[in-house]
Amino acid sequence: MSRIAYVNGRYVPHGAAVVSIDDRGYVFADGVYEVVAVERGQLVDEAAHLARLKRSLAELRIMAPMEEAPLRHVLRQVVKRNGIKRGMVYLQITRGVAPRDHGFPTAAWPQLVVTAKRLAAPSAKAMAEGVGIVTIPDIRWRRCDIKSVSLLPNILGKQVARDQGAHEAWQIDDQGQVTEGTSSNAWIVSADGVLLTRPSGDEILNGITRLVVLELVAELGLPFEQRAFGLEEARVASEAFLTSTTAHVLPITRIDGQPVGDGKPGRFTTALAERYRRHLDQAR
Ligand code: PDD
Repeated sequence: MSRIAYVNGRYVPHGAAVVSIDDRGYVFADGVYEVVAVERGQLVDEAAHLARLKRSLAELRIMAPMEEAPLRHVLRQVVKRNGIKRGMVYLQITRGVAPRDHGFPTAAWPQLVVTAKRLAAPSAKAMAEGVGIVTIPDIRWRRCDIKSVSLLPNILGKQVARDQGAHEAWQIDDQGQVTEGTSSNAWIVSADGVLLTRPSGDEILNGITRLVVLELVAELGLPFEQRAFGLEEARVASEAFLTSTTAHVLPITRIDGQPVGDGKPGRFTTALAERYRRHLDQAR
């Protein structure tokens, strides 16, 4: 089946999908995006993703290109037309097409692009053995809560991880505290057995997976605290994992080459990964 993209009102072959070179997303990274998981052809946590999208747009004063109901229709159409059973939908909205000028254009219509692709679930090996992460300074702007397409520090950070054979890089703020991964949220179980993740705020993206996992934590009654944790605390943690739409709940068993706890995915992580898998299986 050939890939189909949605571009401003049209469903077109992926390879033929184009936007203007004056699109402010292209020129200034002036836009926002969402990634929604697809399981059995169903969108996972769609409402939460659309709520975050609405917030990102409002924070940047970008108009919504359409109402929510037609947008939901487009997302479903793209999933269907691409025959996606398991994978993701990518949605991007930019401020519009206008001659290059830093200030907002007076007459520009927001541009909407939606694509979808097939994705395998995280590998059984990664789930059983965990993955390694490295740590890097957080050099991003101060509004990481906005899901902006401006991702230069994130992609540079991810490449640092890849170059070192790691799966992800955790970003460390000026106070030595972990903010989040380059495309995922960060969690540890402290040496004394308390599950920790940084509270939502301007320094991190409030992940939708993070929000679901917080509910699962409450359901399972795990000892838990939302607070920032430092790199030193992470190094002596008994468990660590990351969460994202595409990686789900992924165990981390090495930080900067050193084993986390006993070097195997821990009890909390395994329980949450299993519960999250069930959450995905319930999507409809
Ligand atoms: N990334 N933090 C950052 C910086 C992210 O880019 C992401 C998601 C997350 C996790 O958010 P969620 O649980 O809503 O996926 C946290 C997506 C998957 C991406 O850029 O591909």
